[in-house]
Amino acid sequence: MVDLLSLQKHFILAHLKEGGRAVDFTMGNGYDTVFLSKTVGGSGEVTAFDIQPAALLSAERNLRASGCPNNWRLICASHERANEFVRGPIKAGMFNLGYLPGSGKKELTTMRSTTLPAVERALEMLGEDAVLLVAVYPGHPEGAAEGEELGRYFASLSRFRYSIAQFRMLNSPSSPFFIVCETK
Ligand SMILES: C[S@@+](CC[C@H](N)C(=O)[O-])C[C@H]1O[C@@H](n2cnc3c(N)ncnc32)[C@H](O)[C@@H]1O
Repeated sequence: MVDLLSLQKHFILAHLKEGGRAVDFTMGNGYDTVFLSKTVGGSGEVTAFDIQPAALLSAERNLRASGCPNNWRLICASHERANEFVRGPIKAGMFNLGYLPGSGKKELTTMRSTTLPAVERALEMLGEDAVLLVAVYPGHPEGAAEGEELGRYFASLSRFRYSIAQFRMLNSPSSPFFIVCETK
């Protein structure tokens, strides 16, 4: 059985190569940042965002323990400000929505009011042959609402500019799912 996490990586790896530029829009404990950092290697660059200082501490620990190259920057700012910190087009962006796992602070979850502007910003930052991946957790009320709004938004975008698909378990509607948006 193919799990959704491997499928996410498959899409990222189809676009992001050694030397590429990537953004982790929801750093959390840094597992996605580690994956992006190792994928682009020493000649690439990864910028990761979170609003919680605890996430930056945890992600930094994780990046150092994982032996990642020195190609990452961790920024304590809301993700809709990403374009203020990243120069040049990006090859890959990841959103892993929800709250910081292990923090117990479920109220500090991603919110539609900032997620939607941040996704719009991320699309503006994508270069040619690039990918944006958004993982959604519909098992809690804000996550379900985020998923619905994102679905409507992505469905409204031009098929001549983007190829957009959604991967979800039909027989488990409250399970996490993801949306992948590739530039043409
Ligand atoms: C599910 S976690 C991300 C998991 C992470 N990608 C990893 O690999 O561990 C979601 C993160 O989004 C962060 N977040 C919430 N609102 C945010 C915002 N406006 N800007 C940036 N990050 C935000 C939360 O603090 C939380 O750490």
